[in-house]
This record gives sequence, C-alpha cells and structure tokens, in this order.
Amino acid sequence: MYSQTAQRALYELSKKLLFSPQATLFAEPPVERAEDLRNVLRYHEWRYYVGNDPVISDFEYDQLYKQLETIEAANPQLVTQDSPTQRVGKDLTENAPQVAHLTPMLSLDNSYNAADLNDFDESVKKLCGLEKDAEVEYCVEPKYDGGTIALVYENDRLTRAATRGNGYVGEEITANIRTLRSVPLQAEFSKKGIFKVELRGEALIRKDIFEKINRNRHEAGGTIFANPRNAATGGLRMKDPREAAERGLEAFLYQLGYAVDQEGNNVLDKFTSHHESIHLLESLSFKTPLAKGGTQQHLPASKVCQNIGEVVQFCTDWQEYRDEYPYELDGIVVKVNNLQLQEKCGFTSHHPRWAIAFKFKARQATTRLRDVEFQVGKTGAVTPVAKLEPVALAGVIVQNVSMHNEEFIRSKDLRIGDQVLVERAGDVIPYIVKSLVELRNGSEQEIHYPKNCPVCHSVLVKPEDEAIWRCENAECEAQVLARMVFHTSKHAMDIEGLGESTIEKFFKLGWLHSIADLYRLDYAQIAKLEGFGEKSAANMKAAVEKACKNPILRLLHSLTIHHLGQRTSKLLAAEIEHVLNLKDWDLEKYQTIKDIGPVVAKNIFNFFQNPHNIDLLETMERLGVNLQQTEEDKRTDVNTDGPLYGKSILFTGTLSQMTREEAEKKAAAAGASLMSAVSKHLSILVVGEKAGSKLKKAQALETVEIWTEAEFLERISEPV
Ligand code: IVH
Repeated sequence: MYSQTAQRALYELSKKLLFSPQATLFAEPPVERAEDLRNVLRYHEWRYYVGNDPVISDFEYDQLYKQLETIEAANPQLVTQDSPTQRVGKDLTENAPQVAHLTPMLSLDNSYNAADLNDFDESVKKLCGLEKDAEVEYCVEPKYDGGTIALVYENDRLTRAATRGNGYVGEEITANIRTLRSVPLQAEFSKKGIFKVELRGEALIRKDIFEKINRNRHEAGGTIFANPRNAATGGLRMKDPREAAERGLEAFLYQLGYAVDQEGNNVLDKFTSHHESIHLLESLSFKTPLAKGGTQQHLPASKVCQNIGEVVQFCTDWQEYRDEYPYELDGIVVKVNNLQLQEKCGFTSHHPRWAIAFKFKARQATTRLRDVEFQVGKTGAVTPVAKLEPVALAGVIVQNVSMHNEEFIRSKDLRIGDQVLVERAGDVIPYIVKSLVELRNGSEQEIHYPKNCPVCHSVLVKPEDEAIWRCENAECEAQVLARMVFHTSKHAMDIEGLGESTIEKFFKLGWLHSIADLYRLDYAQIAKLEGFGEKSAANMKAAVEKACKNPILRLLHSLTIHHLGQRTSKLLAAEIEHVLNLKDWDLEKYQTIKDIGPVVAKNIFNFFQNPHNIDLLETMERLGVNLQQTEEDKRTDVNTDGPLYGKSILFTGTLSQMTREEAEKKAAAAGASLMSAVSKHLSILVVGEKAGSKLKKAQALETVEIWTEAEFLERISEPV
C-alpha cells in the first residue's frame, strides 16, 4: 500500500511528467525518466485495478504509458522485465509446461448451516486443547468462484504463475498472469525478510464484464460461456497472452502457501495471524479479500470475527446480500486466524483442519407445474417429465424437468397446478425439491401414472427389481424412434446429419420403419426435401457409408440391448468374428466375459434368439453394414505395446483438452485398462478441473498415481 505522502508525491510527479513538454523527454537522463514513469504507472494501475478508484483519467494514463514506450523504444537497454509495458508477451504458449507447487494446494471441507459451523468450532477447540467455552478468532472471506492460481515471487519479482491443476502439479501460465494489471510484477517481500514466496488466489471476471463478453460473443455468432468461472478458467489457459489480456481477469490473493528467507528457512511463522499475512499482501499492492467494496451496501468482503457466533451471523448475512457483490462467489471461507492455532489443527490429506467453506444454498425458484408428460425411451422405460411455467434459475430458463419415476412423484406428493420449488446447484440439472402445499387452492389434480403406454397403448409392466414402468412392445413407435436416434448418435454408429429432428421427419414421411431403413435412404428424394438440397443429401450419404464400415463394437452398442454399454460391447466384439456368431452363444458363454453378469447375459441372449433381430441384422449386412470383426475390435482388448500397458486408469473432473470419451479412447489405445471406480486396483487417476470425491479417495489410498490431463497426454505420447 502507498502512504498518503507517497501517493501525493506520485500524483504530483504524474502531473509533472504529463505536462513537461515532449522535447524534455530526451533531454533528461532517460534512466531516471523511465524509472519515474514506471513508478507512477504502477501506482495508477494499483489505484485502478486493485482499488477501483483511479485518480487520473484513462487518457492521462495512456499518455504516461506512451511516454514510457517511447523512451524504451529509443533505449532498449532500459526495458526491465517488470516494466508496465512488458505485461503482454507476444509468444504463444503451446503446451503449458507442468510445474509442481511448492506446497500442495489442498481443498476445503464444506459446511452448509450454523450447526456445521459450530461442529467445526468444536473440533478446532479440541485440536487446540482449548476449553469448550473458549472463543476462537476466525477470519472470514469470500470463497471466490473462478480459476485458482499460485504465484511465485523470488527476489521481489513475479517468476512463475500456475493453475491449481491436481493440487500437486499445475500448468504454468506465467505469460497470461503477467497481463493481469491487478497482479504486481514486483513486490517488496524482501522488506519482510522473504526471499521466495508462493501466494494462492483466484482469477475472476466481474459479473458485469462477463455479461459484456457474452453479449459480444453472441453478437459475433460465437458460443457463450455458461458462467464467469468457465470464462475465467478458459482465460487463464489461453495460448495467446494477448487474448488472455482481453478477458478482463482480476486476481484476488487470499493465502500465503510458502515463504522462505535467503537461506531457505521457513518464515511463515513470522506472522502471528492469517489476517496479518493478508495485510502484508495488501500493503504490497495485491488485491485481497481486505479490498474495499464488499457487498456494496451491506457487508465488507472480509472480517475478523471474535467467535463462531459472529461467523455464523456473517455467513447468513452474506447469503442474503450475495447478489450485491460484483463477483460470483459460492460461499464464505472461514479460517482460524491465529497461525499457532492453525498449526495445532494441522491437515488431512484433503483439507486443512483449520479452515472450512460455508457453502451458499443452491439457487431456487418457484413456478407452476403445468402438466406432466410421459416419455418412452429406447428401452421402453417410461419417464415422467414435468412441464413447468418457464422460470429463470441461475442463468438458465427451466421448463422441462425429469421427475424420474412414480416413487418420486408420490413421495413428494406433486400435483398438476402446484407451485413447486425448483433448485439448481452449480451446473447440475434442475430438480424439483417440493410442492408448496400451503399455496394450493383445491384445483390441483393428482398425477395419474399411466397404466398403458402413452404411445402404443400396450400395458405397462414394472419389473420387480426396478423402479420404472416399461412398455414391453419392442415395436412401439416411440421406442423404435428412440432406438433409431440412439443408433445414429455419437456414442453408437456416429452418423452425422441424422439427428433426432431429421429422423423424426423421415419417420413421419413413412421412410423409416426399422434401423435397417437408415441404410436404404433415397438420397434423391432427400435432396428434394425443403431445407435439405443436394449438398446435405450427399453429406448424409457419405456419413452413412462411413458408418457401414464401423467396427462391430459400435454396432453392438447401437442395438440398444438393455445394459449393454460401450465398454461391454467392446469386450464382446473382441471375442467374436462375426456378430451373428452370437446366435449360437448360450447364457453361460456370455458370463465368461469380464463385466457381463446374469442380467446382461440374458438381455443379449434374448436379443439374439429373436428371429426378428436376426432378420434385421442380415438385412443390414446385405445393405452394406459391416458385421465382421475388424482390427480395431481385436485391438481393443489390450495394446501390449502401449506406454500404459498393464496400468489401470480412471478419469475424473472436467477435462479441458478433450472429451472424456476421447480420453478413454486414447488410454485404451495406449494399452491401459479403464476402471469405473477408485479402488486398490487402480494405478492412475487423471484429474480434470473440479475433481471431487474420486480424487479424495485416491489420495487416501496412496497407491494411486495422480496425473493432470497434460501429464496424461505427455505420457501416452512417450515411446515405450
Ligand atoms: S483457502 C489450504 N480461501 O476454494 C487453504 N480458498 O474448495 C485452502 N477458494 O481450490 C484455500 N476462495 O482455491 C481459500 N478465500 C479463499 C478461497 C479459496 C476460493 C478456493 C480454493 C480451493 C477451493 C476449495
């Protein structure tokens, strides 16, 4: 922070520099003038980007900036790495290198209400050996919802910035972080005897800037971001720092992770409290939770609370006024203030025991349940879907919400005409919490679960071990249609251009009766249809022809045999030379395949005993669809030459450089076997953003290697 006197002097100096004639630019010794300009520019960046309270106009700032640029252009030897002109580098970062954090970046434990917070307080007291009625001081601050970052300063210079990654290893993003003007490129940690320090914080986009970005993207015909967090994390990993600079990211620093002196001795213990350490950051011009503003009208962003009661009050108040805050946040972080007590509390492998996140409630809205539609899926499952009066909820319009099954409706006593409470937590699918019984006026109607299929009217059946009613008529129009849509989908035969609406259209025209018909379409007719034309008909033909050559693992999966998923289809495909071999398989033979239990075995067996289905497959083969095992089908079992041969692998969290499916494909191609859960048999867990319980479990096991996405990509490209 700048003292009043320092600020006054820098302000005066700015004016002097602004009004001194251009000619004097080169008359003075350039070393001094450059130094003066750098100092005043840093000061104004701090006023503007950290304090949101500039003292000169943008125009004046630009003039000063240009002066420095001019001097530096004429005297390149004067350009320093931490000059305000050196924020935006011109080099593209291809694949961001991996860097290990100086200390692991742990997660936080969560709490949701006053009782949880009181439990936390009690456990803190126990760990610290304090009396039950003692009062512990806590620091409370926003739980920012952006992209987590770690900044390293060495010798008072910013030397490295990284994403959180898996908590141990992150991606290096120094060039992008340098473009954030709220991040000082130099900071005098040495004044405090600190030689090397790692700071933790979050890069965020202000809500109003986020909206502007989305508006612009929308107008330019681009895709829009779902929330500020995605825009922020994407911005941090931009390959071109110039583009990163345009995202309007700001960084809040909220934690000192590591600090050593010249000799490498830990100096974190020089501080007595968390608040004091954040205060140091603030005084060194960082943006911190201590920044002015808070919820604008009602609450500061952070506070030192004298006891847990004050913490509870702060958290509940914040929940109410959260929308006033200019940034998105998903809760409040509560930290034991005294660092000696923090040390007594210690850590688990997942989180510090001296801190907890108080999570805000999911966003809720009330709306009217207008009607219920019963939809028949590809295997005949009948799902009730609530038709709601459209309502805006956490950034999306909610209109159709699944009600899962009969039990869901009954247990919540939902009725048509009810006002219902709908909830959406983060990016999760909206969910009906309850009906507001007290608002009923008597006109509400009970929901009658149909006895017959709403499409083909055959009697619905509820298998004993299932919660779902099914239409058992395989010829039911709804099922046939849903099966076709699934058959052409990405996970199955992957026929581009033959999506749901096109299939429905062709179905209504009477062109499609079974999936075989997808392989004998009349493209000349299609070209004549409104909205199609020669080109799209030709593309469709090419896509169908390509699909004909698919390995049989795709075909098996596309047949919508109940519970025969992608993985099992793969295993099955590796065992047969021709799909119709399965006509001769008995129940036991199926069960010799890993993963196939009695239920799936029976489903596959029944399918291949049905002459209708054999007929269908024979017709498809005549129409050119491949039923013969291909090299890919064989290869899927294991690639013994792959770099991951002998390892088992699992992916968790959101991957950013590929889809989960692509990642699994790559892993399988590299010889790894895919797992579906964390266990002692797992060798590698690849973690994406926001990995949750799987990561926790893997860390606890200690035998599992934890990789980032980038690490995974690197390892699969290694020669054996
Ligand atoms: S303290 C070891 N303070 O929340 C201490 N974390 O769910 C752990 N986060 O990825 C971090 N705001 O990056 C802390 N004021 C704040 C925070 C904060 C957001 C993030 C943190 C972590 C996640 C934990």
